[in-house]
Amino acid sequence: MKIILGPASRELGEKIAELLGAETVPLTFKTYPDGESYVRLEDSVKNEHVAIIQTTSPPQDTRLIQLALIADAAKRHGAKKVIAVVPYLAYARQDKIFLQGEAISIEAVAQMLNAVGIDSLITVNVHQEKVLSRFPFPAKNVSAIPLLADYFKRKGFAEAFALAPDVGAIYIAEEAKKVLGGECGYLEKHRDRYTGQISVEKKTFNVKGKTVIIFDDIISTGGTIVAAAKILKELGAEKVFAACAHPLLIGDAEKRILDAGVEEIIGTDSVPSQVSKVSLAPLIAKQLKER
Ligand code: R5P
Repeated sequence: MKIILGPASRELGEKIAELLGAETVPLTFKTYPDGESYVRLEDSVKNEHVAIIQTTSPPQDTRLIQLALIADAAKRHGAKKVIAVVPYLAYARQDKIFLQGEAISIEAVAQMLNAVGIDSLITVNVHQEKVLSRFPFPAKNVSAIPLLADYFKRKGFAEAFALAPDVGAIYIAEEAKKVLGGECGYLEKHRDRYTGQISVEKKTFNVKGKTVIIFDDIISTGGTIVAAAKILKELGAEKVFAACAHPLLIGDAEKRILDAGVEEIIGTDSVPSQVSKVSLAPLIAKQLKER
């Protein structure tokens, strides 16, 4: 297998290639003055299985186009199989019609990736796993939560309370609990579909004097974590941490979360950032090895 390092995930791609002992395909990549992307594979991929490592965090549209161009180049130049490794899968949250007249964005993205010759896809903690069954090619989701929980365990926070900030993320808290060995629970979040405003319903569980780690798939504006941290503080939690697979951290999200009393934010290198302290490389290398 050969690895192509997409411009959005070069470091992660290098780590994966190293773990697999796989060759990387040199790639010329540039952006034209008008903003268009250009790619050129500098080595043969003929009859090869190639994995393109390219996350699609902001700027999502540009990164999706880069992925599409690389896949097109690989297929056009004879790659036998093209596997897209897309740790953060953009548009996955618009997975159904919430309001009349909307697009199902993730299905449009899937169709586009299919059209450029992608044969299969690996992603990480996609918002709703069931959406992958509607992709026109095999698409697999893997979870970074055990790696994140293990990070906290090694830091001495075994037995910490694992909290999902929304009922939809309860499976995430349960995964973390398996590693940490403590208790877990969830809050209930409501989002106004027009304003985007969120509110989190208070629950009564005993976190008094405890360390609580809030686990989520994505931290975007930070609103969800801030609201959850506020409730945890009211319930008497001693220390609150936040962990996520995809630290998008838009605008001043990090500051807002820390100002809300969260000790530390931990994310993965799905989205390279100052909080990306856990690497997905071993998880993804294992998936690619098993193919
Ligand atoms: C949505 O349901 C996701 O699981 C996350 O909770 C959400 O995307 C986080 O967004 P934000 O940080 O803007 O509240």
